[in-house]
Amino acid sequence: MLNIILCGAPGSGKGTQSELIVKKYGLQHLSTGDVLRAEIAKGSELGKQIDALISQGNLVPDDMMYGVIENYISSLPGDCKGTIFDGYPRTVAQAESLTELLKKYGMDAVMIDLLVDEQLLIQRLIERGKVSGRADDNLNTIRHRIAVYHNQTEPIAHYYLHHGNYVAVNGNHGVEDVFLQIERILDK
Ligand code: AP5
Repeated sequence: MLNIILCGAPGSGKGTQSELIVKKYGLQHLSTGDVLRAEIAKGSELGKQIDALISQGNLVPDDMMYGVIENYISSLPGDCKGTIFDGYPRTVAQAESLTELLKKYGMDAVMIDLLVDEQLLIQRLIERGKVSGRADDNLNTIRHRIAVYHNQTEPIAHYYLHHGNYVAVNGNHGVEDVFLQIERILDK
């Protein structure tokens, strides 16, 4: 089974590359951002709490995320070829918890880290913000999301490096070039 943790700053191309990986390798795709936005769209009490955090560019607390991931993994179909975890984990605590959870189900994962220069991240997200309707695609929130990424998410790269399942990809190139780098990793 091929499990991929697709990590990178906001706008690094996690969602874009996930779609291409799904098409070529037939993996399942779990975007925690999409799961959270679906909860907001329901208008539930939980959705309102999540909205208040996401629209300010803050992370949802780890405790809230654990249930989402456990439910997902425990309900994977038997013939599943693997999953792309897009946007999860985002803290070292989430990474530790995911390692344990995957182990419990006899699985492991490789982390692919999309590295993109900050100016390019901002440009991409401002451009997307013109059409996305996402409350967090505005300059102030984008800057805050990038700061949150540096403080809370970047340390997970060291976690996976230490565990020997970390690969970096230069995400500054065009979509196809970035995907070529990912294909080379996955085809090994
Ligand atoms: P999430 O939805 O995951 O947002 P994000 O991490 O900020 O990432 P984005 O979706 O903005 O960017 P992306 O890297 O997917 O890039 P994309 O392919 O879209 O999470 C949203 C929020 O939910 C978080 O801020 C947090 O509050 C919460 N959350 C989610 N997971 C959580 C967790 N585990 N714990 C706690 N909270 C959590 O590309 C962006 C744009 O660039 C697009 O327009 C695209 O067309 C373009 N583009 C992509 N690649 C290229 C390229 N190579 N060249 C040119 N343009 C490109």
